[in-house]
Amino acid sequence: MIKNEIQFILNDRLTKVNNFDTNTTVLNYLRESKKLIGTKEGCASGDCGACTSIVVELEDNKLNYKSINTCIMLLYSLHGKQLITVEHLANDKLHPVQQSMVDNHGSQCGFCTPGFVMSMFGMYKNKIQPTNNNIDEYLAGNLCRCTGYNSIKKATKKMYSYGKKDKFTSDEKKITKILKSIQKKDVLISNESNKFYIPSNLKNLINYTIKSSNFEFVSGGTDLALEITKKNKTINSLIYLGNSKDLNYVNIKNNYLNIGSSTPINKLIPVLKKYYPSFASMFYRYGSTQIRNVATIGGNLGSASPIGDTLPILLVLNAKLVLQGKKQRIINTNNYFKSYRKTSLQSNEFIKEIQIPILKKHILKCYKISKRHDDDISSVFVAYLLNLQKNLIIDIQIAFGGMAAIPKVASKTQKFLKDKEFNLSNLNKSRKFIEDDFKPLTDMRASKQYRKLVSKNLIERFFIEVKTNKSHTIESI
Ligand SMILES: Cc1cc2nc3c(=O)[nH]c(=O)nc-3n(C[C@H](O)[C@H](O)[C@H](O)COP(=O)(O)OP(=O)(O)OC[C@H]3O[C@@H](n4cnc5c(N)ncnc54)[C@H](O)[C@@H]3O)c2cc1C
Ligand code: FES
Ligand code: FES
Repeated sequence: MIKNEIQFILNDRLTKVNNFDTNTTVLNYLRESKKLIGTKEGCASGDCGACTSIVVELEDNKLNYKSINTCIMLLYSLHGKQLITVEHLANDKLHPVQQSMVDNHGSQCGFCTPGFVMSMFGMYKNKIQPTNNNIDEYLAGNLCRCTGYNSIKKATKKMYSYGKKDKFTSDEKKITKILKSIQKKDVLISNESNKFYIPSNLKNLINYTIKSSNFEFVSGGTDLALEITKKNKTINSLIYLGNSKDLNYVNIKNNYLNIGSSTPINKLIPVLKKYYPSFASMFYRYGSTQIRNVATIGGNLGSASPIGDTLPILLVLNAKLVLQGKKQRIINTNNYFKSYRKTSLQSNEFIKEIQIPILKKHILKCYKISKRHDDDISSVFVAYLLNLQKNLIIDIQIAFGGMAAIPKVASKTQKFLKDKEFNLSNLNKSRKFIEDDFKPLTDMRASKQYRKLVSKNLIERFFIEVKTNKSHTIESI
């Protein structure tokens, strides 16, 4: 059975909608239709955080509060969730995070303030005890041009002193009940030539996909929505993968970490920390908390951008990709990228699962080089996977992002290093092979000369960190 409307809770009201264009963003819906103009538009591209609101999802019978960028979330992806906007925080008095902002002088012109307040509210509802580090992590997706960050950080540190429970705590039973009552049937919104399909399970997703044409998948929407907000494109037909529990999981089987393609990155970090700490720490520089709360590895692979940060890592690990169409097939990441943003995915096929081998004897390290430390796209990204025995390089896999039209393995460099002693002299000799492997371009992120130099220098950093057994950090150089 298919429904033709979505249902969600807008603040405290069960809301049903079906009469909006399928490309409508949550931000435009709030501001233009609901006149909830506390949520601001700064950049419309997920960079400034002025539009931050909170999405609440029911997971394992618990409410999960996530900050998100409403400017790049599509309205119909709210189905089955609660959306909390800044207008709903206060009742007869300000919410603790708001009162703390006022008392600690966290606002001047106020344009960024609702976004900061909502990110702080996200921390508050997740009971995060504020430290300098985690405040930076949670607020990295919010920009302020006039207050300066010290007083905002101070307000965040002090927010719990204004009360540890809020009205949302006492409302949780009621909200849980309403979210449970929203039927988990498939939804198909069909307006003129626009379609938005929300499958409730994998079987329905496969059936719908194989008989459809000219559509795009959307998961977190953090890449796809920019086509609408920045390139002014209309995407007529969309299939939303973010509501299907069958694509949202992480488990371990037969020494593989299996990740459902629509699993948000923030859910992966705790698991990755255990097996590949450098992969996990890379994610702290992947967009912002708002981005990581919804963005997926499936979407990173789907975009196949030469600067997608997970892609060089998946290449060196030679992760398997489970592709689902009418039939299922499994390919290695090494066979996935064909040319600029072209992959071996066929139409009517989607990425179902990413299978990452758990290699206990190998060393994985990755480095992201970008102009800004936080919330920035890589100029150069590199992943190294080393199998070392008694200082002999049994195998080394090296893959770069930002150095070619696709994320690419440094095959000549690898070949030179194989079976050599792991010493600085050999690694320095390998630098010239990087020149043979890559002919990078100049663009707005970096010049080709810079890319060449940094990609050669990174091998020395890798050597020093392996030799000194330095636990992984992914600081920019
Ligand atoms: C502010 C900002 C910061 C960012 N920072 C980074 C960063 O640091 N590093 C980085 O790598 N990227 C970054 N990105 C890009 C983006 O967030 C990532 O590529 C993200 O992983 C995309 O996932 P998604 O689920 O949001 O993809 P979506 O936008 O939903 O989809 C992206 C593409 O993949 C396709 N797709 C999605 N899921 C599937 C699937 N299962 N099967 C087949 N096709 C699929 C879609 O059709 C679409 O073409 C940033 C984006 C923004 C807006
Ligand atoms: S308006 Fe800037 S992040 Fe949404
Ligand atoms: S208070 Fe003006 S931009 Fe932050």
